[in-house]
Amino acid sequence: MIERLQDLPSDALGALVAESEEADLRFVRRLLDEWASGANRFDRPGEALFGARVGGRFVGVCGLNVDPYAADARVGRVRHLYVLLEFRRRGVGRHLVTAVIETARGRFDRLRLRTENAGAARVYEALGFRPSGGAADSTHVMELASEQAPGSRAMLEA
Ligand SMILES: CC(C)(COP(=O)(O)OP(=O)(O)OC[C@H]1O[C@@H](n2cnc3c(N)ncnc32)[C@H](O)[C@@H]1OP(=O)(O)O)[C@@H](O)C(=O)NCCC(=O)NCCS
Repeated sequence: MIERLQDLPSDALGALVAESEEADLRFVRRLLDEWASGANRFDRPGEALFGARVGGRFVGVCGLNVDPYAADARVGRVRHLYVLLEFRRRGVGRHLVTAVIETARGRFDRLRLRTENAGAARVYEALGFRPSGGAADSTHVMELASEQAPGSRAMLEA
């Protein structure tokens, strides 16, 4: 049910845009606008956009970008996670973020994100993100490098 989106037909995320705007969240609209303008098509090395589909209908979305706030191409950023109200608490968010983490492994050393939403924070923390303790551009971080390369931490600390 999770798929990587190479293309984004303009009406594909219509229900998500409408619902999120009603909740005063603008990032799904921004995702669509930036895709349309070419500003962000999740197509730089390591990047990806995922959609969750149920019965042919998109019910969730989540993207992986090179972190625009980090001057380091090995830092990725989880962006634009949104799940339709009707489909929440069924694991859709968890599956989307898991797809992002799996895709990021090997390409990024660290994943960061910002969320003000307590439910979203629970999803991220359940998957291994840690609160980043007042960092300017993020609320949560996950180190990927040390997980996939045992000993790299020792090398860094040596
Ligand atoms: C945050 C969001 C994406 C979660 O999506 P979801 O599909 O409901 O999440 P999941 O069902 O995968 O949740 C996995 C676990 O996270 C925790 N969780 C998820 N939503 C929660 C909430 N609102 N309150 C408390 N815990 C929550 C639970 O532990 C849950 O497991 P459980 O249902 O077995 O208890 C969804 O609520 C959403 O789209 N919110 C609005 C947009 C938003 O805030 N996005 C984040 C921007 S960074």
